[in-house]
Order: sequence, then C-alpha cells, then structure tokens
Amino acid sequence: MEAELQALLEQAESGKDAIETRPQLADFKAGFVGPNGSLTAASRSIGKLPKEEKPAFGKKINLTKQALEAIFKAIEERLEAAELAAKLGPPIDPTLPHPDALPGTEHPLTQTRDRIIQIFRKIGFTVEEGPELETEFYCFDALNTPASHPARDMQDTYFLPEDFQLSGEKKREHESYILRPHTSAVQIRTMTKRKPPVRILSPGRCFRRDTVDATHSANFHQVEGLYVDSDVTVRDLKALLDYFVKELFGSDAKTRFRPSFFPFTEPSFEMDVQTSNLKKLSGKWIEIMGCGMVDPNVFGHVGYDPEEVSGYAFGMGIERITMILHGVDDIRHFYQNDLRFLQQFQST
Ligand code: DAH
Repeated sequence: MEAELQALLEQAESGKDAIETRPQLADFKAGFVGPNGSLTAASRSIGKLPKEEKPAFGKKINLTKQALEAIFKAIEERLEAAELAAKLGPPIDPTLPHPDALPGTEHPLTQTRDRIIQIFRKIGFTVEEGPELETEFYCFDALNTPASHPARDMQDTYFLPEDFQLSGEKKREHESYILRPHTSAVQIRTMTKRKPPVRILSPGRCFRRDTVDATHSANFHQVEGLYVDSDVTVRDLKALLDYFVKELFGSDAKTRFRPSFFPFTEPSFEMDVQTSNLKKLSGKWIEIMGCGMVDPNVFGHVGYDPEEVSGYAFGMGIERITMILHGVDDIRHFYQNDLRFLQQFQST
C-alpha cells in the first residue's frame, strides 16, 4: 500500500513539467484526486485494512495529498507567470539605449564657432567670454558710439528698465543694462583688465530687436577678434584675414576690403571673400565681416596710450558664415531643432 502511495507521488513529480495549459492541469489533478483518481482509489482501500493499521495509513494518505497539492500549486504558479509574460510580450531592459537612437552631432553653429576658434588658436589668439547682459558703457560708450548713434536706438537694442541693477556690478548713473547687440563689448572688458599686448577672440550670443525673416533673427551669434600691440598696421589685419579665409574656405579663397564705417575702428572696412569652393557662390564676392584699426578714442576709454599702441578688430556673424559654408538659405533653420536639418551636419 505504502509503495503504491510512493509510486503515485513519483508519477506526479515526473509528470508535472509536461503540463502547459490549465485544462492539462485539471486532467492531471483529476488523475490523482478526482473521483476516479489514483489517490482517491488508494484512500478507499483503507476500509479493507485491519483496524490497527488504519490510523497510520490515513496519515500517510494525508501526507501524500499535501505533497500532491504542493505540486499542483507549483504548476499553477508556473502557468500564471507564463500567462502574464505572454501578455507583457518579450522582456525589455529600459536601461538599454533606444534601438533607433541616432548618434548625436554638434549643432552646426557650434561646429562653425569651434572651427573659427581653432583657426585663430593656431596663431596665438585666446578665447575671452563676456556677459550677455551688458551695460551701455561696454557696448556703446567705451566703443566710441555716441548716444545719438542708431545702434542705441530702441529699434535695435533690448534695453532693461533704468532702475534694474545686477548685484555686485557697477553701473553708471542714467545707464541701462542691455542685452548685448554685439560681442565687441568683450574688447573693452578685456582691455580694462589687461595690459597690451592683447590677442583675443570672443564668441557669443547677441540680441537685436530685429523682425525675424530668412536672414534676421533677434537672437544670433558673433565672433569678435582683437589684437593690440605696438606698430600694428592694416597690413597685419589683411594678412591675418587672408590666412583665416584660406583656412576656412580653402586655399584659393581671396579677400577684398571695402571702406565702411564703425564707430570703434578707423579706418573701417567690410571684408568680402571669393572662392570657387562654394558651388552656389562660386566667383561672387560675399561680405563676411566688419573690421578695422582700433579707434584711438577706444584706447582712451580703457587706459591705453594711443601713442604707444595700435591694433585691429574684426567681427563676424556665426550664422552668416555657416549659411555660406553649407548653402543654408534660411537662418530660422538653425533654431527649429528639426532633426532632418540637423542630421545633415555630422561633427568632424
Ligand atoms: N560689432 C559689429 C557688428 O555687430 C561688427 C564689427 C565690425 C566688429 C567691425 C568689429 C569691427 O570689431 O572692427 O556689426
């Protein structure tokens, strides 16, 4: 009898792994504990035993039943887990990178800025940065731009209310803070804290009250350059910009200076470039920056002696250079973060 119970348990153990569905489990259970099941049959046979053997056998029947229930429960749990897994689909690891993720690239304006910096670094220029929230003094007065100059007009520059004051900053009476309309302010910040020679490049964001269209944006980027030493001439400026343009556009690139006016340089020029490397613009002269010899009045504002030092300055728009380099026809593409546009600029 006992051997029979043992065999029955072994049968349950060896059969349990084959059960894959709930109907199979119901059949499996019935085979042991159903009305015609083997355990049910065994427990009926208790009646035929001598009285004194009955309690011990009854106990064994119960133990076997418990063992069987444990097996049934384990099967049921396994089936439940499988049902849940089927509902959830294949396992996922949320910590893995997205399978469709694109490799990131630097923004085209960042790429151009870094390329320009790299070209000037090679010949000893270092990078200086200044604040985007500036005072009129650094942006205009010290740059020899009188109060009547159109650049100070409310049309062009964002002014903060006159009573606005940045903590820890000095501001002159009746002077307003402004969002800098150009990076030329960094010339003044650098010269007021350093003795010549000075050879700096200052990239950064600028702001103007421009109506946005294909070539204007209220928020744009410039790179300013400044070199001050003794005996600096227009020839040095021209040689520097020739070098820059050849590095940026290719060795056949040529430069041309046209007379212009900026309050902080005298003489002042617009510089054009011509190169066959830009298919769309091949053969045409394209204006890319303003430049000139630092006006002696600017030196006066920073405590430099115009009899002792001379220098040149230049400034260009990063958007404009990028548009020329890559044939981009609308400045707004740079700020819309459309991946179809950005993906075309693989970082180098
Ligand atoms: N600050 C000028 C602008 O925003 C650009 C410029 C022109 C900078 C001539 C210069 C310069 O340093 O010499 O249009």
